[in-house]
Amino acid sequence: MKVTVVGAGNVGATTAQRLVEGGLADVYLVDVVEGLARGKALDLAQAAPILGHSCRIEGGESYEAAEGSDVVVITAGIARKPGMSRDDLLQTNGNIVTQVVENVRAVCPDAILLMVSNPLDVTTYIAQQLSGLPRSRVMGMAGVLDSARFCAFIAMELDCSPADVSAMVLGGHGDSMVPLPRHATVSGVPVTELVPPERLQAIVERTRNGGAEIVSYLKTGSAFYAPAASVVRMVAAILRDEKRLLPACVELQGEYGLDGLPIGVPVILGREGVERVVELDLNAEETAALRASAEHVRATIADWQRLSGLS
Ligand code: NAI
Ligand code: 2OP
Repeated sequence: MKVTVVGAGNVGATTAQRLVEGGLADVYLVDVVEGLARGKALDLAQAAPILGHSCRIEGGESYEAAEGSDVVVITAGIARKPGMSRDDLLQTNGNIVTQVVENVRAVCPDAILLMVSNPLDVTTYIAQQLSGLPRSRVMGMAGVLDSARFCAFIAMELDCSPADVSAMVLGGHGDSMVPLPRHATVSGVPVTELVPPERLQAIVERTRNGGAEIVSYLKTGSAFYAPAASVVRMVAAILRDEKRLLPACVELQGEYGLDGLPIGVPVILGREGVERVVELDLNAEETAALRASAEHVRATIADWQRLSGLS
């Protein structure tokens, strides 16, 4: 198995580390900054004898060595600083992702693309448009991270193990994301029976603000440990054909009454990528929230089309 990770910054390098040290795949790390990917890859390769894994890791600035990748993870771009929204990254990261997808397409046209760069729903849209791949092979990571944050905050509230908490966040990766308290459980017990409504609402708000809370502490960048763990969860589901039910950003084709835009929904993830979209029976409030989130994603895609001269 081989995975290329584009962008050797915080998320990319941590993803590469988890992939090789977890024994999941050989990794090729790419970055536009001369020597960055090569240096980090060499450092990670030198940890292999200590940690006792056999995965290979190399780095560079060019794309030839990405040939033969099963999955390409795209983290290239700039991250948020305090006061910035993910949408503020649109023009810079839209241009970077456009260039990266073209480079990737030239060497591994059939690889599954896993987008990470923000604004996530729009970079997934760009990759879907440019790659010419079926939607099953183009997806974005956000829901696994947002859901993990939701689970972590529920576990903190109840002082229980995060391993026992299961919860799902749908929608766009932004303030309009849609945490689903009604579907959250602790070892099968509905969270709505364990946490009072006003506390649950506060947890929902903290989840929506989860990325910004970390940016406010770090000041020079955004979260990367949980994002990298989320990427690796998705890559593992694909490479091991696990058929995991996970939220992923994928182009909808009529599901949830939405068409032609990528947004976070539950999917079955296996060797073919997004093997199917799972349609939950949402109530009126959840449906309205998902529609509102979709409107926000549509508006940001329209902004990108204007900026890039595509409309
Ligand atoms: P970072 O600044 O640490 O790393 C980004 C890397 O991309 C840098 O090393 C930079 O040199 C590289 N890069 C820039 N242009 C490039 C190009 N044309 N080709 C190859 N590499 C290029 O940022 P970090 O923290 O790793 O975040 C990366 C992106 O992921 C950001 O856009 C961030 O907002 C996003 N992100 C998304 C998450 C999600 O849930 N979808 C979670 C966390 C971060
Ligand atoms: C996050 O949610 C920056 O999108 C990234 O942490």
